[in-house]
Amino acid sequence: MTSTTDRIAEIERDALAALASAEDDASIEAWRTRVLGRSGELTGVLRGIGGLEAEERKAVGAEANRAKQVLEAALEARREAVRRAALASAEADALDVTLPGRPVGIGRLHPVTQVRRKILDVFERLGFQVIEGPEVELDEYNFGALRIPEHHPARDMWDTFWFDEEVDGKTPLLLRTHTSPMQIRHMQSHEPPIRVAVPGKCYRYEATDATHEWMLEQVELLAIDEGISMANLKGTLEEWARQMFGPGRKVMLRNSYFPFVEPGVEVAVDCFACPGDDPACSVCRGSGWLEMMGAGMVHPEIIEAAGYDPERYTGFAAGMGVERVAMVMLGVSDIRDFHANDPRFLAQF
Ligand code: PHE
Repeated sequence: MTSTTDRIAEIERDALAALASAEDDASIEAWRTRVLGRSGELTGVLRGIGGLEAEERKAVGAEANRAKQVLEAALEARREAVRRAALASAEADALDVTLPGRPVGIGRLHPVTQVRRKILDVFERLGFQVIEGPEVELDEYNFGALRIPEHHPARDMWDTFWFDEEVDGKTPLLLRTHTSPMQIRHMQSHEPPIRVAVPGKCYRYEATDATHEWMLEQVELLAIDEGISMANLKGTLEEWARQMFGPGRKVMLRNSYFPFVEPGVEVAVDCFACPGDDPACSVCRGSGWLEMMGAGMVHPEIIEAAGYDPERYTGFAAGMGVERVAMVMLGVSDIRDFHANDPRFLAQF
């Protein structure tokens, strides 16, 4: 009698210890089969009691049933504990859909884009059509047809990025140094009257500093018609300056040289930020005038090369630096800031 009840106690003790280390459903189920299943340890003991004396059979039977109930209760408790543990770790990993979302940064137009659009809006209202041209240009359009032949010292005005490839073995390719080649391209494919504004990127092989960048944007203007004079150039630019910088702005033309215009001028607008004589003015630095572009009357040889009669047609052209205009409008003192891609700079505009 003692040996069988001892055996039951031993089974119970071992089984409880094994159950405590079962960490998941599969090992709990394996434990159940081994301990309480049809060929389990305790079941074996219960089967054997048929051969015992009546007295002993009663005692062993009671003991075995008690052990069975203890183990079944322990099994349920263990199942519940494992289920709770799994739930808790799932909750720890879970997505909390009630948390506020991470804000998505909303972009905005680049300051140079904003200013380019403003410039073009004004010229469109003045009757200019906006067209674009290639950034990779032929030597012929960037220089030759603009009366800047090879070895001409005027080429020094534009330090150029050249490509190694050549077209037809003779005309080298380059990154356009200005938007003026579109004057030629447009005249070759259109008849007067012409009024076009040409925005676009230009490239110059130069050392960068606060006012020079190797990539810049320009807006080119070209107007060809009968009877166009310098007064039309000045009037157009004056109206443009007033719509850009405010009523009453004045435009000053100063003698300059570009091989494709005659006469050629530098165009300055009077300072909009001070009366014109404030040496501390951050916009004009006391000069009273803001240099904005080159311009002039289209050279008669260029009119003629386009197939137009130079006795009948005249025209003006101008080319402005968009970053230059943006710097004075937005109060930016270093042109390199525009393309440095620093969101702290860009977010100000
Ligand atoms: N293309 C000239 C430049 O880049 C500017 C210009 C354009 C001058 C049209 C005169 C007429 O400097």
